[in-house]
Amino acid sequence: MLVRLLYASRAVDEKTCDVVHAIMQQSRLHNPQHGITGVLCHSERVFMQVLEGGREAVNALYGQILRDPRHTDVILLDYAEISERRYAGWTMGQANMSKINPSILLKYSPLPALSPHCMSGKMLLALIDELMATASIVGRT
Ligand SMILES: Cc1cc2nc3c(=O)[nH]c(=O)nc-3n(C[C@H](O)[C@H](O)[C@H](O)COP(=O)(O)O)c2cc1C
Repeated sequence: MLVRLLYASRAVDEKTCDVVHAIMQQSRLHNPQHGITGVLCHSERVFMQVLEGGREAVNALYGQILRDPRHTDVILLDYAEISERRYAGWTMGQANMSKINPSILLKYSPLPALSPHCMSGKMLLALIDELMATASIVGRT
């Protein structure tokens, strides 16, 4: 059975660049063997990640992520059983929200900055769809 999990969090360190680099390395190493695919969106201070895969694998990874000291204020935004993957092409795609066209964000968000803690899971999934449609996600496998 496949599930999709969406959460957001706030970075502890201001050097998000280094943290994102390390997370992407861990994801590329770990995710393929556990059948996890997804997308990590980030700005200077905020993370938002969608994970999809088998229920046990996704739940176990989310448990690890919750305990990760590199971020805080983790909020679960959406969790659903799914009939097919949406992000099958990404071991872990990456979108730097500080660099995307602000009009993409403004389509779904009150501000032209990533603010997932005050947005609905539905809107955020629509935003990720928009990022895919506009080729704003890098790291396709
Ligand atoms: C925002 C965020 C997203 C993460 N995403 C993943 C991920 O997709 N896959 C992964 O293996 N680790 C991810 N991690 C890292 C895990 O929390 C944890 O450090 C890692 O799974 C442990 O790997 P290790 O056993 O190689 O140290 C993420 C961490 C953070 C802070």
